[in-house]
Amino acid sequence: MSATAEAPTPASPAAEEPFSERLKAATWGDHSAAENHGFTKALLGGELSLAGYTAMVAQHHFAYVALERVGRALADDPVAGRFHYPELERVPALEADLEHLLGGDWRDRISPTPATRTYVARIEQMADHPAGFVAHHYTRYMGDVSGGQFIRRIAAEAYALADGAGVAFYVFDGLGSLPEFRAGYRERLDSLDLDRAAAGFLVQETRLAYQLNTEVLADLGRKHV
Ligand code: HEM
Repeated sequence: MSATAEAPTPASPAAEEPFSERLKAATWGDHSAAENHGFTKALLGGELSLAGYTAMVAQHHFAYVALERVGRALADDPVAGRFHYPELERVPALEADLEHLLGGDWRDRISPTPATRTYVARIEQMADHPAGFVAHHYTRYMGDVSGGQFIRRIAAEAYALADGAGVAFYVFDGLGSLPEFRAGYRERLDSLDLDRAAAGFLVQETRLAYQLNTEVLADLGRKHV
């Protein structure tokens, strides 16, 4: 009998680190690239103009319309459907923010940048790749309930939006405790029934999602920083 025939399968879930930890570890370098970008640095430093902040909100709108449309389409999928949280949906908040920041005709005043069009196309492509959709979902919403909460405080102060109008995107009143939400989200990642190839795809797609986000910010940075 050969040694390989007796060896336990390397994919044995009990023997491996939780998938949420693997995902974070494998993509944290990409997170740093997004976080330490010129545009985000200006935003975090409270030095970004209100026009720059508004442009970011507008680009978010295009991305979240796509994310939430695909998310609804995959609501019954055994993998992506586990991340269908209607209470997370950001489009209504983004619309309220844009109305506050740009006025009632905001729809006529915004358009997607080339980087946002690429990002949106990739999100839409994931309608046929549920594990890849989870990557995009994780990259945005876990970021919004984590570092996004810093941005909320900085933006509220920098643009005098303390009453919440204009920063509604970062307000998740429907979720209760954000640390508990994040823990529950990680448990869902850990309990996903993915084979090795699908798990690897989810990790790679998360790296791409970070890159696409960084490109959106780089585009905005060229214009606003
Ligand atoms: C703007 C500057 C940013 C800051 C200050 C920031 C900060 C943070 C912090 C403090 C965490 C929590 C880390 C932990 O749980 O130990 C976090 C998590 C996260 N951020 Fe960011 N972030 C920023 C930008 C971004 C961007 C642009 C994205 C993606 C588009 C993003 C996506 C994520 C994700 C997915 C997580 C969850 C990681 C995990 O726990 O698995 N962040 N961020």
